[in-house]
Amino acid sequence: MALSHAVSASLTEPRTKSQIQSPFIFVLMLKPLKPQNGKRKDSTKNKQEKKKMAESRNNFFPHQILCLFLVSQVSIVSSNSSSVGVNWGTMASHQLPPQNVVKMLKDNGFTKLKLFEADQNILDALIGSEIEVMIGIPNRLLKEVAQDPDVAASWVEENVTAYYYHGGVNIKYIAVGNEPFLQTYNGTYVEFTLPALVNIQRALEEADLKTVKVTVPFNADIYFSPESNPVPSAGDFRPELRDATIEIINFLYTHDSPFTVNIYPFLSLYGNAYFPLDFAFFDGTNKPLRDGDLVYTNVFDANLDTLVCAMERYSFLGMKIIVGEVGWPTDGDKNANSKSAKRFNQGMVKHAMSGNGTPARKGVIMDVYLFSLVDEDAKSIAPGTFERHWGIFGFDGRPKYELDLSGQGKDYPLVPVEDVKYLPKTWCVLDPNAFNLDDLADNVDYACSLSDCTSLGYGSSCNHLTNIGNASYAFNMYYQMHDQNTWECDFLGLGLITDEDPSDELCEFPVMIDTGNSPRLQHKSLRMLTRVAATVLVVLVLSLL
Ligand SMILES: *[C@@H]1O[C@H](CO)[C@@H](O)[C@H](O)[C@H]1NC(C)=O
Ligand SMILES: *[C@@H]1O[C@H](CO)[C@@H](O)[C@H](O)[C@H]1NC(C)=O
Ligand SMILES: *[C@@H]1O[C@H](CO)[C@@H](O)[C@H](O)[C@H]1NC(C)=O
Ligand SMILES: *[C@@H]1O[C@H](CO)[C@@H](O)[C@H](O)[C@H]1NC(C)=O
Repeated sequence: MALSHAVSASLTEPRTKSQIQSPFIFVLMLKPLKPQNGKRKDSTKNKQEKKKMAESRNNFFPHQILCLFLVSQVSIVSSNSSSVGVNWGTMASHQLPPQNVVKMLKDNGFTKLKLFEADQNILDALIGSEIEVMIGIPNRLLKEVAQDPDVAASWVEENVTAYYYHGGVNIKYIAVGNEPFLQTYNGTYVEFTLPALVNIQRALEEADLKTVKVTVPFNADIYFSPESNPVPSAGDFRPELRDATIEIINFLYTHDSPFTVNIYPFLSLYGNAYFPLDFAFFDGTNKPLRDGDLVYTNVFDANLDTLVCAMERYSFLGMKIIVGEVGWPTDGDKNANSKSAKRFNQGMVKHAMSGNGTPARKGVIMDVYLFSLVDEDAKSIAPGTFERHWGIFGFDGRPKYELDLSGQGKDYPLVPVEDVKYLPKTWCVLDPNAFNLDDLADNVDYACSLSDCTSLGYGSSCNHLTNIGNASYAFNMYYQMHDQNTWECDFLGLGLITDEDPSDELCEFPVMIDTGNSPRLQHKSLRMLTRVAATVLVVLVLSLL
């Protein structure tokens, strides 16, 4: 497929030759565009309900002070529990039921969650869970929030205040924007980020939400160390963003709020064939990086300390740093597989919880949010075909590998999302009896463009398929993502619906989860309804007689 080529081209383009020479500089390389999470299909009805609920809550707690006191108690207790957090992105064509996912989070002992949006369905599911939540404000809202304090106030009212009560949602942080200074955005959000941050902080204060802290998740591409001295202690912020970044850090610092950074050792490896593999993980390396007296055995620490040093350069000492995203994908690239993802994430959790800290900041338990919870088949693959495979869990909530979240590193199975409903066990494949294959390529392209063929590419789980296998894979993904509508397996007569699973050991042909959109099921429930209506009619008629 041409797709994957276009992708790698767009990724290598912004990199200069100099970046390719030093393995360490790769740490600081640009992390590609991550689009905003999930369009909201929220209805005004929902909003009104929420408002009503919020009002009744206020009535129930006449003294807001009491309410706040109780909430802060909750957050003190749970913020004490040291555990890793996780990002829950929602750019999937089919969402798992939020209630079931929240139960799974609790079953596995995740106590911290990061959301890219104030998704009302998810927030509703989190009510009463005690899971500590960071809620994101997507970049597309930054301009409005920056320009109008009332917009900030109503955002806080609808998305924070409404859930912030004793027994409600344990909201701890508001993430203003998501990597707003990312180089890929060409500076679009730079001027709006600080004013938006200021307005949200003010709105939180005015709503008396004093325990909720603001932050801005940045990509590690805002800092670097020079090519001439590629060590953490030489860290600094990128010159073109230096003033804007320092202003934001200063604001966070004076409000006792944390700095948040996203770090991706996988991308160091993805971007550079010469990057030492062991340095991307946490098991030690025979080629450590030396920086004065400090020794770095993994790129994560080296990256984080580059930030620490950049901050210290401008006298921001001892500032709390949250790692907002860190993780490893399982498909879509030769280095993306469950084995490596397990190795990385288990190493990350163990390292974060060990209390060893980094060479420049010894003895701290790190606050990290793994990226990510579940696979998202509707994410942009502009950064690479691995983008849809970051989940620790698959699209259907099944764990992909073992992960001991206590940091002991034992082979500890994760609990899956329970009670997941699937569509029937049918697949759409290339009809083996189809004789005219002239239109095959066009149909495969069409199917892939409207579904997800990222597992077919070089280094991916289904790359070993034949031409025929490729076509079947594409047809099936299209068919599943369109809820197994019979007419979505036509492909000008080339498609065939089968109940024989075409998967092999390495390549899974998935069956989609049932989110109630299947026309087949709708027909079924319609039939059921007709039957019920008919019965009622009969009963009525009989009773009249
Ligand atoms: C199947 O599709 C992938 C992705 O487009 C491609 O890399 C691979 O070469 C194809 N296989 C065959 C046998 O055409
Ligand atoms: C909270 O932290 C304190 C000191 O850091 C520790 O003694 C205590 O056991 C922790 N409590 C919980 C619930 O983790
Ligand atoms: C609450 O957050 C959602 C999700 O980001 C957003 O669409 C909505 O506009 C916000 N509400 C207000 C009043 O700003
Ligand atoms: C940034 O600029 C480049 C080159 O001018 C352009 O191709 C790209 O679409 C721009 N990206 C955004 C997000 O505006």
